[in-house]
Amino acid sequence: MLGNTFGRLFRITTCGESYGKGKGSGLAVIVDGVPPGLKITREYIQKELDKRRPGVGKLNSPRKETDQCEIFAGIGQDGLTTGAPLGIIVYNVDTKKIHVEQYRSYKDIFRPGHATYSFFLKYGEYQDWCGAGRASGRETVARVAGGAVAKFILEREGIEILAYTKECMGIRCREMTFEEIKKNYRKNEINCPDLEAAKKMEEKVLEIKQQGDTAGGIIEVIAHNVPPGLGEPVFDKMSALIAHALCSIGAVKGIEFGAGFRVANMKGSENNDQPYIDNNGKIRFKTNNAGGILGGITNGEDIVVRLAIKPTPTISIEQTSINMRTMKEEKLKPITRRDPTLLGRIYAVAEAMMAIAIVDALYMARAYDALAKLDSKWMKLKGVY
Ligand SMILES: Cc1cc2nc3c(=O)[nH]c(=O)nc-3n(C[C@H](O)[C@H](O)[C@H](O)COP(=O)(O)O)c2cc1C
Repeated sequence: MLGNTFGRLFRITTCGESYGKGKGSGLAVIVDGVPPGLKITREYIQKELDKRRPGVGKLNSPRKETDQCEIFAGIGQDGLTTGAPLGIIVYNVDTKKIHVEQYRSYKDIFRPGHATYSFFLKYGEYQDWCGAGRASGRETVARVAGGAVAKFILEREGIEILAYTKECMGIRCREMTFEEIKKNYRKNEINCPDLEAAKKMEEKVLEIKQQGDTAGGIIEVIAHNVPPGLGEPVFDKMSALIAHALCSIGAVKGIEFGAGFRVANMKGSENNDQPYIDNNGKIRFKTNNAGGILGGITNGEDIVVRLAIKPTPTISIEQTSINMRTMKEEKLKPITRRDPTLLGRIYAVAEAMMAIAIVDALYMARAYDALAKLDSKWMKLKGVY
């Protein structure tokens, strides 16, 4: 299997699966590029992991994972990072025989909507049939742990990242400022800051759950207070790096920046963001249709990204599939353990991947700035003095 590392200077490498064989199975991340002298604690990382933990509410999978992390490398005797790679592990605890046997009972029948068919084609008889292996949503535990480290670094830079549910099955969160969203962040299970819309969304999801089915939706991810100058103008556009980070999350089926697909029906005069000079002498924009990125480079406005999240593929409704061993059509029985919607958990993964992409771009931009030696006027505008 290729491609288990993301990032260039700030890099995460993840390994592990939901039902690895033997004692000590779990998910781990190695984070490379951690500055020395940071007081990153397991409690800090745990706070992020708790956001995506299953088994904590009516909209969550009943899987009982405690997702407790341990830092096993990169912290010195004084409790600070040494600059060495940071290693974090989360052990699987809910891997009972009864669940393994359930997976075994349909291991040759691929699950519509899940990755099993393509995994059969790529890994043949060795494909991990138990709990979807690396295609399991559980793989994202390691990303969230790595993303917590990135968030810690961003906090020191004054950069905040948050994601929330924008839409679910046609019910939409009203337009809100960053501060309003922050105030109502994680106030309900579906993590929608518009409390009225959240109630309707949750009712809708529960209604769909009753039918044995699952629901999709839209997540918005905002990076606030990002300095201008991140990203490169050709292949490494900030939007392309973010798309790589976010589209690598399972179940993400669409991405848009700023006004996104609405630009298709806008006039230039409506879409162009008009600049002004604020009270601090900084150039700002009256609107943010660009979503904080112009020509692949951040412009100092919030980076605003929306992701279309598909309904959880595992459903409690009988489906038709193919048995890959007999090559015959077969019925796939209802499967019970799953999230009725991924919206209440996937946002934590989106925040993590956004944080990692931004820290990586910060490293690149600072390295470039150190050598570029532009006139101080441009450095000041960028916020580099
Ligand atoms: C946090 C998270 C949790 C997930 N939980 C489940 C789940 O419980 N059941 C399921 O069928 N899919 C779940 N998925 C989605 C599958 O991993 C994903 O749909 C599958 O790998 C197929 O990939 P694709 O949807 O990107 O094509 C989850 C994804 C994420 C990010």
